[in-house]
Amino acid sequence: MDFKDNVVILTGASTGIGEALAHQLAQQGAWLALAARNAEKLEQVAAECRDHGGRALVVPTDVTDESQCEMLVDQTVAAFGRIDTLINNAGLSMWMKLEDVEDLASLEYLMRVNFFGSMYCTYYALPHLKRAKGRIIAIASVAARTGIPTRTGYAASKHAMVGFFESLRIEVEDDGVSVTIAFPDFVASGMHTRSLGADGKPLGHNPLQVDKIMTSEECARLILDGAAQRRRQVVMSNRSRFGQWLKLIAPGQVDKIAKKAIEKGK
Ligand SMILES: NC(=O)c1ccc[n+]([C@@H]2O[C@H](COP(=O)([O-])OP(=O)(O)OC[C@H]3O[C@@H](n4cnc5c(N)ncnc54)[C@H](OP(=O)(O)O)[C@@H]3O)[C@@H](O)[C@H]2O)c1
Repeated sequence: MDFKDNVVILTGASTGIGEALAHQLAQQGAWLALAARNAEKLEQVAAECRDHGGRALVVPTDVTDESQCEMLVDQTVAAFGRIDTLINNAGLSMWMKLEDVEDLASLEYLMRVNFFGSMYCTYYALPHLKRAKGRIIAIASVAARTGIPTRTGYAASKHAMVGFFESLRIEVEDDGVSVTIAFPDFVASGMHTRSLGADGKPLGHNPLQVDKIMTSEECARLILDGAAQRRRQVVMSNRSRFGQWLKLIAPGQVDKIAKKAIEKGK
């Protein structure tokens, strides 16, 4: 029950890993500010959270809009009086080779959601997190540590998140604020179906072997365990744990593993 009465801003709370995080936090008695664009879906998640015993506030937010991120922070403080935890989870992926991209605006958009969205929320929440000696959680990806084919723009946005949050960790250490970066491997959620294809539109199907990859619930559980202990990072699969070391001595082998993972969809 590490998050009992803990005021948590959670972006990307309408579905997938974010929805699973919301449920598990509510079961621990957290007070949640749920953010995403789909207000109707957020209301559903909020109702489920209240049933689980948590408090839930719905704040429809597009994280690519700085002023909406500022408003998310203001509304949370107005409702709950403080912010203990910020979870930067909202994200979007891609499934296309660079040479096939029809309009580079889609790669810029990935950067706006994954990187700038996290930066805006963190900037505005920071004074409150310092007051609470709170926690910042950034949901990155295995693509934040190594290259993955068909993910150029996504990997770039996730590498950017890591640079940002690893630097911030040092800045806020003396204030008692912890920064936990999560590195999920493939997770079963709607993200892959929603991944941008070459035409900049959602792919519309999931190329992964969904029954062979981690569930959103398991991923959420690992994230919350790591954040509760204020760990620096949460690396979730044996493949990525092994890959971290292999990259130091045989980076070409890690490239081969990444290529095979995309080809096999697991
Ligand atoms: N699934 C995986 O295999 C995997 C692997 C590694 C890392 N991750 C990371 O885990 C996080 C969650 O992914 P997921 O698998 O749960 O994906 P998902 O099921 O597609 O959920 C993504 C969430 O982000 C929200 N979102 C997207 N664009 C947004 C915007 N502009 N403003 C506000 N919210 C926005 C979506 O809500 P709305 O559409 O309602 O706005 C949704 O709630 C992401 O950061 C992703 O990169 C996922």
